[in-house]
Amino acid sequence: MKYHITTYGCQMNVHESEKIAGVLSSLGYDEESAEEEADIIVFNTCCIRENAENHAFGNIGALKKLKKRKPELIVVLGGCMAQEEGKAEYFRRKFPFIDIVFGTHNLSELSTLIEKRRATGKKSVSLKEEREEIEDGIVPVRTSYPNAWVNITYGCNNFCSYCIVPYVRGREKSRKKEEILKEVEFLVGAGYKEITLLGQNVNSYADGETRFPALLDEVASLRGKYRVSFMTSHPKDFSEELVAVMKKHENICRRLHLPAQSGSDRILSLMNRRYTRQKYLSEIALLKREIPDCEVTTDLIVGFPTETEEEFSETLSLVNEADFSSAFTFVYSPREGTKAAAMEGRISDEVSKNRIMRLVDAVNAQTREKSAKCVGKTFEILVEDYDEKKNLYLGRDIYGRMGYFKSDRDRVGEFVRLKITKANGVSLFGEEEK
Ligand code: 5AD
Ligand code: SF4
Repeated sequence: MKYHITTYGCQMNVHESEKIAGVLSSLGYDEESAEEEADIIVFNTCCIRENAENHAFGNIGALKKLKKRKPELIVVLGGCMAQEEGKAEYFRRKFPFIDIVFGTHNLSELSTLIEKRRATGKKSVSLKEEREEIEDGIVPVRTSYPNAWVNITYGCNNFCSYCIVPYVRGREKSRKKEEILKEVEFLVGAGYKEITLLGQNVNSYADGETRFPALLDEVASLRGKYRVSFMTSHPKDFSEELVAVMKKHENICRRLHLPAQSGSDRILSLMNRRYTRQKYLSEIALLKREIPDCEVTTDLIVGFPTETEEEFSETLSLVNEADFSSAFTFVYSPREGTKAAAMEGRISDEVSKNRIMRLVDAVNAQTREKSAKCVGKTFEILVEDYDEKKNLYLGRDIYGRMGYFKSDRDRVGEFVRLKITKANGVSLFGEEEK
């Protein structure tokens, strides 16, 4: 039988969709297909910003006709939006053709819900309160070879004032170290070449005595050629121990994703981020002192309530001062139930748009400048994919730089040495060095 999963949002959701595919596969849905041919369609939603939500609304609404034509088609809604206060009911009313709604704490129940729907034709909603135990043991259908995602924590305790994640994903829980190591060992043995440890805030990982740096140390110490990366790090939990472990292992990526969110102390405090611009910059300085060539990427938000032009310009100047090699930039999006959503001083769309354009320009200029410096150098990239439009293979080096090259045989999963001949924005083009 055929299935189709649409994923919204971050890498955590991409990996969760791999687990959903695992559940579907155990029920006989073993072939991925286009929506029109699928026997079951799953929407794995994200609610972190309004545009992710609108995107999902649009796609789900567009399914009405197909469902009319194929009433036996099973339509499932899962992920963060399903878990959002009152949203499940709203969905059921707006899109009555949805068969199953399941929350972020109910993945292990998905197979029972589908079986019930198949046996009785009845629709169901399953939204549970958060549980103590972690839903482990679902074998994912991995789609991102040569990279493999591995969850180490779930949920978040930080309550940044703009963020809905702690409300829909619950309190932070760490997986057992043994479980993680068993999974990583299996994946490396199976030929995966990059292991990415996932958590909303990996730096606060804690399993008994084991903290994140010690876990990372063990994950990077297995036999075989593979890389290790991790995301996301919170500056408030960044530590010297972490830098020491990164420095110790050549196979840990030389690119740290460290979301700054803002360059202004007043805004950082309103965001409840619990660090200052100075503290953030001192962390970058420590990292670069120990590992001078390490690149830093970040997340930045503009238009947070009451943000002044001057405070925005502090975010703008951080781009250069922190030497970001790239950044995800967002316009603040009020999320119901969060502290910031109740704050006064909303910034108009016009001002926010103007600020984000200036920020994107600053980030892009810096990325381009860094890319241009790569021409003439040789990097080792891990080949990830084939770009059909460009007719080229592509991969990333240990600094996260994307390189394209020509080859007449399948190279995905190989490490290739690339001499860079041309830079175009973030993309680098090169020739294989044999
Ligand atoms: N509005 C805009 N951006 C947000 N993010 C999280 N919540 C919001 C929001 N309400 C951004 C943060 C975070 C990234 C994953 O999404 O920058 O690091
Ligand atoms: Fe949201 Fe902050 Fe937690 Fe990240 S650390 S998921 S931004 S609350």
